[in-house]
Amino acid sequence: MSGQIVIVGAGQAGVQAVQSLRSEGFSGAITMIGDEAYPPYQRPPLSKAYLLGTFARERLFLKPAAFYREAGCDLILNARVDKIDRAAKTVSLQDGRTLAYDKLLLATGTRVRRLACPGAGLPGVQYLRDIADVDGLQDGFKSGIRLAIVGGGYIGLEVAAVGAKRGLDVTVFEAADRLMARAVSQPVSDFYAAEHTRSGVKLNLNTGVESFEGNNKIEAVVAGGTAHPADMVLVGIGVVPNDMLARESGLPCQDGIIVDRNAMTSDPSIFAAGDCTRHHGREGIEIRLECVQNAIDQAKHAALAMVGRAKIYSEVPWFWSDQYDLKLQIAGLARPPDRLVLRGDPASRKFAVFHLRDGVVAAVEAINAAPEYLTGRKLIADGAKVPPEKLADLSIPMKQMAQD
Ligand code: APR
Repeated sequence: MSGQIVIVGAGQAGVQAVQSLRSEGFSGAITMIGDEAYPPYQRPPLSKAYLLGTFARERLFLKPAAFYREAGCDLILNARVDKIDRAAKTVSLQDGRTLAYDKLLLATGTRVRRLACPGAGLPGVQYLRDIADVDGLQDGFKSGIRLAIVGGGYIGLEVAAVGAKRGLDVTVFEAADRLMARAVSQPVSDFYAAEHTRSGVKLNLNTGVESFEGNNKIEAVVAGGTAHPADMVLVGIGVVPNDMLARESGLPCQDGIIVDRNAMTSDPSIFAAGDCTRHHGREGIEIRLECVQNAIDQAKHAALAMVGRAKIYSEVPWFWSDQYDLKLQIAGLARPPDRLVLRGDPASRKFAVFHLRDGVVAAVEAINAAPEYLTGRKLIADGAKVPPEKLADLSIPMKQMAQD
């Protein structure tokens, strides 16, 4: 198949689409446009090993420069698309260029949600989404400084762990009554709260930030009616999808670009993949996923559909987080009131929580427990029913769980 495919967004989904289009035999032109200075890179290490200083910049890049040359992909960086003309089938770049497409892929990702409280614009109040953000953080990220973190989700807690490890005096302010509430179950939240406290991180739950104070730079965080002195603030309160381009071109969006299970928008020439999309998930509900798995799998499905070999997307989502020496791996989507089954003792720092829905394994959260995660993911994909007492029994190896 030939023609012109334009990809807006040079991230994980964009680069996967290039690779899949070529492996599916697409022989036409591919142009990928990104608004950052860098070719596609992995974001997950940014708040982990890259911030810690143990992961070199070059290792972040998903592909070497030769990949784009060999794949015949014209990579346009430092460029923003600011309009889609669906009737003319063109995109316009901010620098005045116009590119024609036969098929368009939107892989525009997300941007950080920003705080709007008084003082939020003070120097020293920072966010973490891209390489430049982390490079900016590194300057002040020194042993002994007081780092206030707003948000006890993935980003906030990964930065807290790196901060504690590097000797910073870390305080977390979380609006909800437990950590990572969006992503994990209560026992896992409790476990992580204990681990952070043990490492010297001060946790303030049920504590929204009211304002920031300082004279030309951050000096204090006002939360819970008290001013907490701070030298640096990191805000990690979630992300919002970059769906404006799609929205302005008249494509249906609702907290994300709405796509079907072939990653197609309401316009058969336009596809979307990754964090920026909302789709009808395998769970039967509309969902917007923020994870590498979705970026990769949805981009593969978009590529298949673009070359006329559409296949239904129904992969099990998976997520991970590294904090201290703890590897958290999650598969599937938890949904209260799932029945929770604990396997292993959290005190051993190696355990898993399984979520059963009508007896079927629906999700697993595994902490330093790779077999539980890997077999759990397979059980979820297979829609397997496993008795709770069997799942909880450490004397039964995980690989025997699927057998009667
Ligand atoms: N004050 C304090 N906490 C807040 C506030 C606020 N005003 N608003 C939101 N929060 C808390 C939420 O309760 C939640 O626990 O911030 C946390 C945000 O956590 P996530 O939703 O996990 O978002 P974040 O940590 O920013 O990560 C964003 O980046 O790591 C990637 O893909 C991953 O989806 C993740 C994304």
